[in-house]
Amino acid sequence: MPRTASLGVVGLGRMGRLYAEIVSRSVEGARLVAVFSRTRSRCEEVARELGARCVSSAEEMMRDPEVEGVIVATPSYTHAEMIELAADYGKHVLVEKPIDVDIDRAKRAVSRAERSGIKLLVGYMRRFHSSYRRAKELVDEGRIGIPYAYIGVSKDPEPPPPGWLRDPRLSGGLLLDLASHDFDLARWFLGREPIEVYARGGDFHGAGFGDADSAIATIAFEGGAFATVIASRRSPYGYDVRCEIHGTEGAVFVGSRHSYEVSIGGWGRVEYVGIEWFQKRFLEAYTEEVRHFARLVTGVEEKPLVSGRDALKALCVAAAARESMERGAAVRVAC
Ligand SMILES: NC(=O)c1ccc[n+]([C@@H]2O[C@H](COP(=O)([O-])OP(=O)(O)OC[C@H]3O[C@@H](n4cnc5c(N)ncnc54)[C@H](OP(=O)(O)O)[C@@H]3O)[C@@H](O)[C@H]2O)c1
Repeated sequence: MPRTASLGVVGLGRMGRLYAEIVSRSVEGARLVAVFSRTRSRCEEVARELGARCVSSAEEMMRDPEVEGVIVATPSYTHAEMIELAADYGKHVLVEKPIDVDIDRAKRAVSRAERSGIKLLVGYMRRFHSSYRRAKELVDEGRIGIPYAYIGVSKDPEPPPPGWLRDPRLSGGLLLDLASHDFDLARWFLGREPIEVYARGGDFHGAGFGDADSAIATIAFEGGAFATVIASRRSPYGYDVRCEIHGTEGAVFVGSRHSYEVSIGGWGRVEYVGIEWFQKRFLEAYTEEVRHFARLVTGVEEKPLVSGRDALKALCVAAAARESMERGAAVRVAC
């Protein structure tokens, strides 16, 4: 019987709260020991509800001898700093995507984690969803021949809530915050490294966050493979996340526009009811990701499915895409 991983969660917003619940309620190999959020009342409320301790700083969490692994769900611009802190105290980390918004900071954090010997898993959770895992198996079994193209669609039903997520300097903007899921998947499915990106975008809905609300990026990969990713903060018909992997002998398709559980039919039309955003669509993936993290922490598994180096690559593609969008020219992926 494998032992249980004792975990802590830092940051208790949309994702942190979900992780805390998953750890305490849905993963048999994990238990929630401690939580931290700077808003004390929230920290205490979550701790009380889930039977954990509310600690008074991220550092206190990292120092806590009972905590073996930490899930970091703080804003994206704090991730590198949190990874370094975890490395200082020898705690394994599951950090939400992106790895950070700054390439130099992210590189330092990944090197620091590697030197310290902690396991670093980054939350590109789509890789954990059963549909994506099955697609990856099919591609790796050679069922579509040699894969040469990835097409990804990532459209959110509404812009992120007010606050840091709307500031592209803090969130990394549309291309890092949202499209980097596809940059990671394209590399994973194609099994090749990205070389160059060309991206275009615009603020079509006039949100005025100082960023494109919709964009398209085309990426050239080693060996002549390529990917096209369309991302949007505002999908009038709801959450839409799909991808296709094309190969010399066929193609694999993941996801469907018709992913809603309830639909209503009338004369000549069918309507899909409700919005299935990421918390619901990818609940299974977050749960599998935490299960994997618990196994890494207890030593049942050694290799993170999404490493710090993988996430660094996604960050570099997003940075090149952003520069391309600003300059209107193709940009080499520099790291
Ligand atoms: N994989 C996915 O599908 C997915 C989906 C959504 C978001 N995310 C990622 O998850 C991360 C969190 O996003 P979110 O939407 O959950 O954000 P959020 O709702 O704003 O939550 C962030 C939390 O972090 C806390 N916090 C802020 N600064 C902190 C600090 N320096 N130290 C400790 N806690 C701090 C905030 O509360 P206090 O102010 O009280 O500290 C808040 O509870 C982001 O990196 C985002 O990109 C991933």
